[in-house]
Amino acid sequence: MSTTISKISIIGAGGMATAIANRAITAGHAVEVIGRDRSKAQAFADKLGPGATTGTYGAAPKGDLIILAVPYSSAASVVADFGAALGGKVIIDITNPVAPDLSGLVAPSGSSGAQEIAKGLPAGAHVVKAFNTLFGPVLSKGGRLDAFMAADDAEAKTRVATFLESIGLRPLDIGALHMAQTLESLGLLMIGLARNGAGTFDIAMRVDIGLTR
Ligand SMILES: NC(=O)c1ccc[n+]([C@@H]2O[C@H](COP(=O)([O-])OP(=O)(O)OC[C@H]3O[C@@H](n4cnc5c(N)ncnc54)[C@H](OP(=O)(O)O)[C@@H]3O)[C@@H](O)[C@H]2O)c1
Repeated sequence: MSTTISKISIIGAGGMATAIANRAITAGHAVEVIGRDRSKAQAFADKLGPGATTGTYGAAPKGDLIILAVPYSSAASVVADFGAALGGKVIIDITNPVAPDLSGLVAPSGSSGAQEIAKGLPAGAHVVKAFNTLFGPVLSKGGRLDAFMAADDAEAKTRVATFLESIGLRPLDIGALHMAQTLESLGLLMIGLARNGAGTFDIAMRVDIGLTR
């Protein structure tokens, strides 16, 4: 696997897909948009402008990295719809598997949404958890935000770190894929903070390194 990213594929055409796709296009990446509704995906690609194309839902994505930008409740069925077409791919799981009433996380105890998604992938595919702690509108504004990521496969993680860096984010590796459990709790923390103490979704978490230097 080369660490150079030439093309990314995004499954989904909602708010997060838009925020990530715009940064990717700005960075010079080719973006393939894949949606269950082809006309919606085409309209999204047209809006993104040159550099964006549409792919066929369920067929092999053309991207080096595949961003799964659908609700967690749909993620397993989407992965199943693609099946073997995801073989050997790096899948970025951005989902926040939170209960609709925000009472907690819906992934089974001792697991994470990312680990559950990984169970449905074909051989050779790798999941990297990333983006779930960043809000779409904040991502869209720009700025070098901190982007946490967790994955088991070192090479997949390096590729995602390269992509994050290329779109102006600061990749911060928090460990193996089981750490997605912590990232998903952090996603819930951010939503709780936005709805309560901060009173706005216009927030991002930042890590200061070397404070005692
Ligand atoms: N919004 C945020 O700030 C934010 C931040 C961090 C992480 N996230 C996570 O990012 C993911 C996407 O969030 P979003 O805000 O972009 O959601 P969104 O605006 O509602 O978009 C969701 C997209 O998923 C597609 N989709 C839904 N069910 C599907 C299915 N069964 N098969 C195929 N496609 C399906 C939708 O397609 P249609 O248009 O055809 O319905 C739509 O394009 C979620 O998992 C969320 O937890 C969101």
